[in-house]
Amino acid sequence: MKQRAYTVRMYEYDRLDELSEEQVLLVNSAIKAARDAYAPYSEYHVGAALRLANGEIIIGSNQENAAYPSGLCAERVAIFYAGARHPDVAVQSIAIAAIREGILQEGPVAPCGACRQVLYEKESQGEVPMELILYGSKMIQVLNKVTDLLPLPFKLEDLS
Ligand code: THU
Repeated sequence: MKQRAYTVRMYEYDRLDELSEEQVLLVNSAIKAARDAYAPYSEYHVGAALRLANGEIIIGSNQENAAYPSGLCAERVAIFYAGARHPDVAVQSIAIAAIREGILQEGPVAPCGACRQVLYEKESQGEVPMELILYGSKMIQVLNKVTDLLPLPFKLEDLS
């Protein structure tokens, strides 16, 4: 039997102005995107903003549907749109924020398991790790790469 330990480094900030200008811009784009979410069922409005390697910012928000499972999370809306618009451009960073009853979520917004899998595959296609900025109005967590949130991903290679 072997035992392995996995270390995840998280950087925690109390205030947005502790982040870099680029990170603040991405967070503000995610907050703006959350305001446009279509979430009449959960009333939980999520926004995601991606910074691509070409400098472009792509946003996404959760899109719900009366047939509940047909809806999609903000992160996947953004990642799939980036894939459709710029198929070969890496994603350097993603910021996520959420609003409920008009109020920004206080704690960091972490992506769901399905989104982690999709973010992982995007990251693995590019040559750069994807930074994650999980925004909360009282605490912001920054992680360096998607595998920090999904240490044992299902991989493309697993299919061959
Ligand atoms: N949601 C996201 O958009 N991203 C997440 O990371 C978690 C959940 C959405 C899905 C659904 O529209 C609503 O939030 C409640 O789960």
